[in-house]
Amino acid sequence: MMAEKKAYSQAAYTGKYDRATGLLGKYDNVRRLWEDQLTGIFLRPALTDLMDEKRRLLKRVRILDLGCGSGDGYDLLMGVTTKDPDIYEYIIAAITSDMLREYVGLDINEDLLKQAEAYHSANQKVRFIHDDVSRGLPASVKKEEPFDIYFTSYGTFSHFHDDQVVKIIADLCTHAPERALMVGDWLGRYSYEWQDLWHHPADQEYFMDYRISYIYPEHERGQVDVSSFPLRLMTRDEMMKIMDQASKESGAEIKPITIFDRSILIGRHMETGEYNKNCPNLRLAVNSLFESYLRTDLERLLIDHVPRPGFDHLNNFFEMFFMSCNALVNYTISLLSEYDSEAAKLRTDPQVQPFYPDPLKEAMHIMRKVIEGVGWVKWGDVRANFIEPHLGYSLRRLEMTLQPGTGVGHSLVGVFEIRK
Ligand SMILES: C[S@@+](CC[C@H](N)C(=O)[O-])C[C@H]1O[C@@H](n2cnc3c(N)ncnc32)[C@H](O)[C@@H]1O
Repeated sequence: MMAEKKAYSQAAYTGKYDRATGLLGKYDNVRRLWEDQLTGIFLRPALTDLMDEKRRLLKRVRILDLGCGSGDGYDLLMGVTTKDPDIYEYIIAAITSDMLREYVGLDINEDLLKQAEAYHSANQKVRFIHDDVSRGLPASVKKEEPFDIYFTSYGTFSHFHDDQVVKIIADLCTHAPERALMVGDWLGRYSYEWQDLWHHPADQEYFMDYRISYIYPEHERGQVDVSSFPLRLMTRDEMMKIMDQASKESGAEIKPITIFDRSILIGRHMETGEYNKNCPNLRLAVNSLFESYLRTDLERLLIDHVPRPGFDHLNNFFEMFFMSCNALVNYTISLLSEYDSEAAKLRTDPQVQPFYPDPLKEAMHIMRKVIEGVGWVKWGDVRANFIEPHLGYSLRRLEMTLQPGTGVGHSLVGVFEIRK
């Protein structure tokens, strides 16, 4: 009896015995299935090129993850697929484990590094450095062999002033081999979730007071004293100025490959409304779309956009974007209500207007095919387990195709090639 109690307690202390949920927390469904995946899709062409080149030269890839936290960049990068694989293929990673020489993560936070080490302890290709990059690449990194990928994720560069980032990037250009990839990740300046902050002058660096309040359930948020810290909000133009400056200082060419907005629809603070009281609880609703055996009230996904006077350009973008998302959700609701699962067909034909933006028409077409294709399946709650996740992927695809890459999402990410 004692042994049994000890074994269960031991399991509980590891944290691995906690009830798993994709509805809340750092690793919610949106992070894993939307944000990580979307980053991977944008990275895919450059990563595939790099790996082709490495294979040709009989070399393997080395990765540095700055501000690695718990080392999640490893999973993100190793999860990027090489292309749109055929359905019968199962080895689809851009970086297969035999092609990885080393992943080195660096962070200033010892607690996060402890987590990272515990999680990756069995992987001999993963190693961590405890250091500070606020004054450029520290000596502990400069003495390392050059890396092929200099990676940051989930807003790491927003921790620094622009001149600090210039120094970090100039240093890593000096450290890099003849050709390397660099990923720079900031918070976007004009996300709808912080519409209250839009008025700060665009020609000055602006840091918001950021609170990680979203990891608490809604009923606990008011009771917890969540501390805040400053994070830089970024636009595309400001990012390009930083790259120009770092290029001048290092003498290396820094060529943009792609710059994209991530999480326009489902930024973390859409859920809290702390910086814009008109935000709907969208993140929870989209998490629910991806959750197995949980049906979602699709009307919770509809957004009642409230523009901010004096910001026509931004308001116009968000109006078009949110109305497109709403149209896709409403179309899916119509398809579901018109589908006759006994007869395995639609009773009527919900309308798609010819003047809709092409990405919206494409997403509607896919949702219709999905519902017609599987709506008749009787086993395994086909709505919760297949149709709803697909609505999540279709909304993600809509975001990917409509985003302008200017700073209108929770994150603004730039993928660059360093050439010397
Ligand atoms: C927004 S988090 C991103 C963490 C991680 N990349 C992820 O995917 O979740 C930023 C990270 O940068 C780290 N950081 C902040 N200032 C730093 C510094 N001066 N030197 C090194 N790391 C720093 C923080 O400890 C934190 O882990």
